[in-house]
Amino acid sequence: ELAELSALLHSRIRDVPDYPEPGVMFKDITPLLADPSAFTALTDALAEFCVANGATKVVGLEARGFILGAPVAVRAGLGFIPVRKAGKLPGATLSQSYDLEYGSAEIEVHAEDLVAGDRVMVIDDVLATGGTAEASVRLIRRAGAEVAGIAVLMELGFLGGRERLLPALDGAPLDAL
Ligand code: PRP
Repeated sequence: ELAELSALLHSRIRDVPDYPEPGVMFKDITPLLADPSAFTALTDALAEFCVANGATKVVGLEARGFILGAPVAVRAGLGFIPVRKAGKLPGATLSQSYDLEYGSAEIEVHAEDLVAGDRVMVIDDVLATGGTAEASVRLIRRAGAEVAGIAVLMELGFLGGRERLLPALDGAPLDAL
């Protein structure tokens, strides 16, 4: 059944060569989003993972993690918390910077949205180098909350994101559909 789901999802992801720059194969999820049965199957599987791991809140990582995370939160009956790129949230924030290949990036969350006792599931579309996911884990822990896990649609294994994340995960599960 999982193999069937994976095959369905895989068939709805479009490979776009040389985007956004030469040599990069972009994984475009818009065909999946446009297919209600594939989008629903994905949402249900991610929501099941939230429930199975005792999550009490869902964090979505801007921007595609919002598209996937919001329906997952609703399906699982949980609140949705956006983790945004720096400068987008109006209230008091916690921020976490992380290194990119060239330079650095910063993500933020509203400080009041995550508190001690929360068990947070992080949802995103892609795990690539793992930098964004690792920063989100740090952010969640610094807020005093617990990480219930990370769930992504796809993992680009050749970039080593899982290995990078392992120490930060500290036993929390990482699932890639
Ligand atoms: C992409 C993707 C993940 C992240 C993965 O987002 O949606 O969030 O990169 O890369 P990493 O594992 O190397 O950190 P992007 O920064 O392109 O933002 P967007 O969704 O707003 O386009």
